[in-house]
Amino acid sequence: MHTIEIQTQAFSDQKPGTSGLRKKVKTFQLEHYLENFIQAIFNTLGDCSNQTLALGGDGRYFNREAIQIILKMAAANGIPRIIVGQGGILSTPAASVLIRKCKLDGGIILSASHNPGGPEDDFGVKFNIANGGPAPEKFTEQIFSHASVIKAYKIMDSDDIDIDTIGEYALQDMIVEVVDSVADYADLMEQLFDFDRIKALFESGMFTMAFDAMHAVTGPYAKEILERRLGAEPDTVMNGVPLVDFGGHHPDPNLAHAKQLVEKMNSASAPDLGAASDGDGDRNMILGPGIFITPSDSLAVIAANAHLLPGYASGLSGVARSMPTSMAVDKVAERLGIECYETPTGWKFFGNLLDAGRITMCGEESFGTGSDHAREKDGLWAVLFWLNLVAAKQKSVETIMHEHWQLYGRNYYCRYDYEAVDKTAAEQLVQDLRDQSAQLAGASYGDYRIMTCDDFRYSDPIDNSVSEHQGIRILFSNGARIILRLSGTGTVGATLRIYFERYESDSERLDRDADEILQPLIEIAKQITQLEKKLDRDQPSVIT
Ligand code: G1P
Ligand code: ZN
Repeated sequence: MHTIEIQTQAFSDQKPGTSGLRKKVKTFQLEHYLENFIQAIFNTLGDCSNQTLALGGDGRYFNREAIQIILKMAAANGIPRIIVGQGGILSTPAASVLIRKCKLDGGIILSASHNPGGPEDDFGVKFNIANGGPAPEKFTEQIFSHASVIKAYKIMDSDDIDIDTIGEYALQDMIVEVVDSVADYADLMEQLFDFDRIKALFESGMFTMAFDAMHAVTGPYAKEILERRLGAEPDTVMNGVPLVDFGGHHPDPNLAHAKQLVEKMNSASAPDLGAASDGDGDRNMILGPGIFITPSDSLAVIAANAHLLPGYASGLSGVARSMPTSMAVDKVAERLGIECYETPTGWKFFGNLLDAGRITMCGEESFGTGSDHAREKDGLWAVLFWLNLVAAKQKSVETIMHEHWQLYGRNYYCRYDYEAVDKTAAEQLVQDLRDQSAQLAGASYGDYRIMTCDDFRYSDPIDNSVSEHQGIRILFSNGARIILRLSGTGTVGATLRIYFERYESDSERLDRDADEILQPLIEIAKQITQLEKKLDRDQPSVIT
């Protein structure tokens, strides 16, 4: 067993996006591709001799092979200790929790989140820092710089490590500690939520739930927490066995991809709570019988009721939402008299606010919700929150949502995604809008008058770093908004996302169909952008 140095050439496309480097599996399998990127991470860390790391992934195709390569490279780069989830499995929130609990210096998470998996689909690598959260932009930019000029990488010439058996192994001078992937995470959930109360709810025989793990990483976590620790019926977890290709589906918990669950929740025999999580366990979807809770509303309900739950009984220091997320939580913050921050899309922007204690909770419209217990969004955490809420209030999901709207008003909301469109055309469309923004201010479309149109720019209140071009905002005088931005996680062409929002406080108008309420805004967006012509699409690929 010895260290070897392999000569390599840089790839020009190793720039991390919204959430790490995501590419087709076939790209990661190119000779030296994964190795170059991992070496670029180690080069960014600098002296690795005092860096202890976590390592694990969502179990998708190529996870196990990548883990072995990374372990051998970590040893060759002088990392003294690395903690690996058993079988190479760690959900993204569990990895964040592990880094924090064990006071590690960071972690490498292998995941392409909600993107499909399998030999023809996606893989991803992400680096998280010591606070348990995604590396900030200045760090990922350094990774990219190193990856762009890399000439060699270091790796051990050694046998594979047994990652399936819990225990400690030596790889040259490095200790590999294989740990239970679920236990630490489940223990933390037990501290945050009132497990006795939730258990009593399940034992009452008056309450059932369905959790769709979508054949992804949360299966074992949900079985342990919901079925074993909380006593839910054994068939509560659907699609609970993780598969390397997620059974051929998109592991994305939304109305389009979690079809089986949605049908169940719309059927006569619907359980009282329906929930799902994504490929790596950081997203969540919440449903009641016949009702879908938008992630933006979910964040608002969670913030408004946090004080009822043990982990948050002392109240919230503040909240934050990504810019395209609906402004429902702003109303809650106003009433609570706490700060509400608006950040660019991507969880990494919440890190500084959480670390500085400025916020306790945060969320994104893209099915992400979380709190200061981790530095990643956390799917099961949100599900447990709703479960605890139903148990504490003894009210249905629907009633909780309706009572919230009565008190705060309702932010009707939806998102259109135009996936895999021509990249140049999509970039041009956004640029055209940018060029038009000054003229758009003051323009009227029926009852809607544009107040301002700008390109969102964020100045981080903690480190003063500035992030430009974070999405075009068209803001109307009645408070409605249309937001447009290009996705930073896609792997084919470009994806244009358009977000529509309209606030309604008239108690007679809280139960309308969101499509109907938002239709005028959708038409305005089409008219202003000419997107159907420019992108050659007459329908969005997905509506959420
Ligand atoms: C998408 C979501 C964003 C989320 C990210 C990672 O990024 O929109 O909110 O943080 O996935 O889960 P996008 O593809 O829009 O850049
Ligand atoms: Zn995810």
